[in-house]
Amino acid sequence: MITAEDIVKKIDNCMESIKENIPYVPKTALVLGSGLGDYADGFEKIAEIPYGDIKGFPVSTVAGHKGKFVFAYVGGVPTVMMQGRVHWYEGYEMSDVVLPVRLMRSMGAETLILTNAAGGVNFSFSPGDLMLITDQISSFVPSPLRGENPERLGLRFPDMSEIYNKQLCDKARKAAKLAGVDLKEGVYLQTAGPAYESPAEIRMFRALGADAVGMSTAVEAIAANHMGMKICGISCISNLACGMTDKPLTHEEVKETADRTAPLFRKLITGLITEIG
Ligand code: HPA
Repeated sequence: MITAEDIVKKIDNCMESIKENIPYVPKTALVLGSGLGDYADGFEKIAEIPYGDIKGFPVSTVAGHKGKFVFAYVGGVPTVMMQGRVHWYEGYEMSDVVLPVRLMRSMGAETLILTNAAGGVNFSFSPGDLMLITDQISSFVPSPLRGENPERLGLRFPDMSEIYNKQLCDKARKAAKLAGVDLKEGVYLQTAGPAYESPAEIRMFRALGADAVGMSTAVEAIAANHMGMKICGISCISNLACGMTDKPLTHEEVKETADRTAPLFRKLITGLITEIG
């Protein structure tokens, strides 16, 4: 069993191995999902830390997921970005899946912006839409907080009544207006992956209140909320979920739509970070 001490020790060891390379205390942390992988390239990079250089850090195995922290000022805001995340379906312990988010909190970031590509479950969505995550369903994946609670990080039984901060949601709506984005809103449901869902599962998820489905974000949001971070989440609806069209789903389609939507997504994220200040 992984103990609370193991978890905090791992965070501390990671911090120790990179502290000389962290250029500033970041205000905002940003997790870049599919399609946004090259977001950091639009900014002057102050520093980069490849995950492979961090002692004990999980390194993503998904092709095309570059793994590194990038430090850059976005609209004047000192930001740390995660270029490449680790997913539970890759085989890591859940405590390792959320380690990068815990590390960014240790660096000092108080706000977390989570982005991802997700399948649209709501029939009113179209591929290429952007969706503000207003709440989530994580009941189909194990909790990242399972096991002994590291008291230094947060409470044993943390409240989850406002995982996605209402003020940040308002700022995202404002940033969307300024960027000319017709921002949709809805509930994100996380599955374990890596298989896409069956049509029957998608019907079940819709009946349960989900608007979008993905394989990454809900557990990161739980770990961040546990530590008291303010969270904002935005999904790129890369496809309509399984069974909603008669086409089979492919990772290529997901990537292609996410890439096509990236310019607008980038504009929205930059506007949002600037708006948060
Ligand atoms: N299902 C799960 N995860 C996803 C999907 C989907 O349809 N699209 C992008 N990520």
